[in-house]
Amino acid sequence: MRTTWNFYSAGQLLFGSGSVRQIGELTQRRQLRRVLVVTDQVLLDVGIVDQVREPLQQAGVEVELFTESCAEPSLQVADAAITAAKSFQPDAIIGLGGGSNMDLAKITAAVCSHGGAPADYFGFDKVPGPVLPLICVPTTAGTGSEVSHAAVLTDEANQIKVSTLSNYLRPALAIVDPLLTLSCPTSVTADSGIDALTHAIEAYTATDFSVLEGTDDGPCAYEGRYPLGDVLAEKAIALVGQHLITAVQEPKNQQAREGMSLAATLAGMAFSNCGVALVHALEYPLGGALHCSHGAGNGLLLPYVMRFNLPERTETFGRIAQLLGEETGGLAPIDAAEKAITAVEKLRQAIGIPARIRDIGGQESQLAGFAQKAFAIKRLLAVNPRRANEADLVSIYRDAL
Ligand SMILES: NC(=O)c1ccc[n+]([C@@H]2O[C@H](COP(=O)([O-])OP(=O)(O)OC[C@H]3O[C@@H](n4cnc5c(N)ncnc54)[C@H](O)[C@@H]3O)[C@@H](O)[C@H]2O)c1
Ligand SMILES: [Zn+2]
Repeated sequence: MRTTWNFYSAGQLLFGSGSVRQIGELTQRRQLRRVLVVTDQVLLDVGIVDQVREPLQQAGVEVELFTESCAEPSLQVADAAITAAKSFQPDAIIGLGGGSNMDLAKITAAVCSHGGAPADYFGFDKVPGPVLPLICVPTTAGTGSEVSHAAVLTDEANQIKVSTLSNYLRPALAIVDPLLTLSCPTSVTADSGIDALTHAIEAYTATDFSVLEGTDDGPCAYEGRYPLGDVLAEKAIALVGQHLITAVQEPKNQQAREGMSLAATLAGMAFSNCGVALVHALEYPLGGALHCSHGAGNGLLLPYVMRFNLPERTETFGRIAQLLGEETGGLAPIDAAEKAITAVEKLRQAIGIPARIRDIGGQESQLAGFAQKAFAIKRLLAVNPRRANEADLVSIYRDAL
C-alpha cells in the first residue's frame, strides 16, 4: 500500500493570449543561444512559425527550423529530425505545434543528449538523465504534451503507437498562448479537444494511488488518482463542457479557445501524473492500424470504456455528469452516472467524432489482434479502475464496432 505521491510538470508554465511574444526574452534569459524549432509546413504556412522565430531573433537567438514534422510522426520522421539536430548542434529544442511536433522535439532532445536511437527509450524511465532544454509551444488544445513526460511516435512497421515516458522529457518551459490555436481546422479542434477530455476523465477515474501497484521509493510511470490530480481534472472537465462545442463551431471565438487551452494543459498535468488507462490502451492499436487521429480514436472509444468502468466509479461518474453541465439532482447514483456517458456521447456527436470503429474502416476480423496489442500495455491497464482481461477488451471493441 503506497502512502506518498509525486507531482511533476514543466519547469515554468507561461499561460495567456499573446504570451508567445515573450519567447525570445525567456530563451535568452536562460542563456540559450542556438535553438532548433521542430515544427511542420502547415504552421509555417499559417504564419505561426514567424510568431516564434521573430521574437527569438530579436533577442539575438540563432534559429534553425525543422519543418518536416507531421501528424502522428513515424520513426523515419524522428530520424530526420535527429539528423537535423545533430548537424545544427542546438543548445535547446523548441517543439512548436500539436502533440506530434512537441513529442518529436522531446525524442530528438533525448537522442541528441544520450545517443542511440528512439527505440532505446521506448517505455518508462529509459532516458538516463537530463536532456537538452525543451521549450514547448502548443498550437492545438489537446495533448498536454507541453507539461507531460510522454512522447508518442508511430511504429508503422508494427502498426502501433509507441510511447517514451520519462520525467526528463518534461519541458523546461511551456508557453501556452491560446491565440495560436485560432487557426486550428475544425477536425483538429474537435479531435484534440476530446483527447483533453479523455485525459481528464481517465486521470479522475484512475486506480487510487494507494492501491496502484508500485513502491514508495521507485519512480513510476503513473501514480494513480490523488487529490491534486482531482482538482486539475475537475477543472479541465468543466472547461471542456463549457467551451469545446463553441471552439469547434466558432473557431475564432477567443474565449472558447482560451478555455480549451487551459483545459488541455490542466488535463495534461493531471494525466501525466495520475495516468491514462483503458481508452488509451485500446486507441494505440486502433490508431496504428486505421490511421485515425489519436484524439478521434479516443473520442470514439471513451463512452464504451466508461460503460465498462461504470460499476467501479459510479459516484465519480455522477460528478463528471455535473461537471459537464448535466442536471443530476434527485437521481439515483446509477442514473446520475449514466448521464456522464450520455453527456460524452452528445458532445462527441456535436463535434463530429465518429461513434463506431466501422465508421473509420475497422472490421470484426481485426478486433482480436487489437485486443492482444492493447492487453500488452500493462502500465495503462493497471491505471484502469476496473480490471480487464483480454476477452473484456475484445468485447469493448465489439460494442464499439
Ligand atoms: N505527449 C503527450 O503527452 C501526448 C498526449 C496525447 C497525445 N499525444 C500525441 O500527440 C499527437 C496528436 O497531437 P494533436 O492532437 O495536438 O495534433 P497534431 O499535432 O497531430 O496536429 C494535427 C494537424 O493539425 C495541424 N495544426 C496544429 N496546430 C494548428 C494550428 N494552430 N493551425 C493550423 N493547423 C494546425 C498540424 O500541422 C497537423 O497537420 C498524437 O501523436 C498523439 O499520440 C501526446
Ligand atoms: Zn491522449
